[in-house]
Amino acid sequence: MNDVLPGSEAKPAYVKAMFDRIAARYDLANDAMTLGHHRAWKGAIAKAVAPQSGERALDLATGTGDIARRLRRAVGDAGRVVGLDFSPEMLAAARRRGEDGVEWLEGDMLNLPFAAESFDVVTVGFGLRNVNDLPRAIAEAYRVLAPGGRYASLDLAKPRIGALKPFMDAYSFGVVPLIGKAVAGDDTAYKYLPASNDTFPHQDDLGKAFEAAGFTDVRVKDLLLGAAALVWGTKPA
Ligand SMILES: C[S@@+](CC[C@H](N)C(=O)[O-])C[C@H]1O[C@@H](n2cnc3c(N)ncnc32)[C@H](O)[C@@H]1O
Repeated sequence: MNDVLPGSEAKPAYVKAMFDRIAARYDLANDAMTLGHHRAWKGAIAKAVAPQSGERALDLATGTGDIARRLRRAVGDAGRVVGLDFSPEMLAAARRRGEDGVEWLEGDMLNLPFAAESFDVVTVGFGLRNVNDLPRAIAEAYRVLAPGGRYASLDLAKPRIGALKPFMDAYSFGVVPLIGKAVAGDDTAYKYLPASNDTFPHQDDLGKAFEAAGFTDVRVKDLLLGAAALVWGTKPA
């Protein structure tokens, strides 16, 4: 284990403790670090899965619930939205912002407490980067989706233009921890963030992992020159 990246076995406990620690300042830090861009990206992931009125949606690694709330507005009162996270403090922060018709649930996205085919839509925002078993996380989403269901991940990504990498690295490894320290009082968590992206697959390879799990019509969309990316697909009907 280096100073910010835990080994695979230690990763879940490390990640959970980290988010419990920063939960109260998480939203503020997000706005500061992404200069507000995360809001548009979350709108984009909600749009990618095209939630319809009355559908059942599950937002994994929901955190303070930004994506879950967007899904809830789309499916309306006739639908159902569950926001699942394994950090009790992140869920407490979500609840403090208002229930908003979302069911907040403590749970592990590697072992979902739902029967097969329970949802029409599954989303995960900045969550897959944090698991120690990516194929299993994708397989769990696939299992709980009904045939024809849509799955999308929004996460940090890699710029396609190589010349941008030094600038993005300077921002991620230099500026982000400073913002994390100033806003959330925790630079370790915000050193983990870019380090965890370094070991996360390229967005195109994440798309291939979706296909390997059985998803079809898989698409990849870069956001802000590849600072983040959206990957989404459909479970065959
Ligand atoms: C960077 S936050 C993202 C929160 C929210 N989706 C957003 O976009 O603002 C990552 C979240 O993933 C959660 N998480 C990480 N691994 C998890 C797992 N195995 N099961 C459930 N939640 C997990 C953390 O507790 C944290 O709240």
